[in-house]
Amino acid sequence: MERGVFITFEGSEGCGKSTQAARLGARLKKAGLHVLMTREPGGTAIGEKIRDLLQFAPESASMAPETELLLFEASRSQLVREIIRPALEQGSVVISDRFFDSTTVYQGVARKLEPDIVAILNNFAAGGDRPDLTIILDLDVTAAHARMLRRVRPVVAIDRMEQEPVEFYERVREGYRELARREPGRLVVIDGAQSADAIEAEIWKLLAARFPALPQSELEIRNSKF
Ligand code: TMP
Repeated sequence: MERGVFITFEGSEGCGKSTQAARLGARLKKAGLHVLMTREPGGTAIGEKIRDLLQFAPESASMAPETELLLFEASRSQLVREIIRPALEQGSVVISDRFFDSTTVYQGVARKLEPDIVAILNNFAAGGDRPDLTIILDLDVTAAHARMLRRVRPVVAIDRMEQEPVEFYERVREGYRELARREPGRLVVIDGAQSADAIEAEIWKLLAARFPALPQSELEIRNSKF
């Protein structure tokens, strides 16, 4: 069977990537393609426990950056082997809200852990699976922070990562831009300040350009495979 397509969404908190991942997934499903949606950290029973530990557990307040790095990689190792790889082998389109570029940028650039070690651990966890296309939604740090604060969530759910100072998010933003400059064939930066509809349209156009076998209209797509 032909391998599926692996698409990841990246960007800072509040950039709109989760909305766009969901919109793209729904659109491809409506067009008749088999789509698997997932996210990092999380996406498996083990990974969701790790996610809780990383983001909300009171114990995580004193977590060492090295522990944090290894937990993100642990979640990824499980997700790749349990969900992503089997789905790709079955020919599905896999859409993940974050993948190893998040670790490169958050732990490697923003937390300033040794980039070479982060790269080795990313490869070890992903086991050679790489996204075919990574969409980065780029947004000014102040605008992203304002959006983040508007999110509806229980008052008790205070995300540890979201407590970081503005300089941390400046490094995250620049880290993504630098990654895109280094790997322009895989990573594409899209202006996250546009309306959700405009971003969705740009992503749809991008897919048609990157995967020429993907038909231009949803009607055409129903009768084919990309
Ligand atoms: P989000 O996906 O809801 O934005 O939250 C995930 C948080 O975890 C976010 O603050 C980014 C962070 N993160 C890392 O620091 N490294 C990683 O490898 C991943 C996947 C996420």
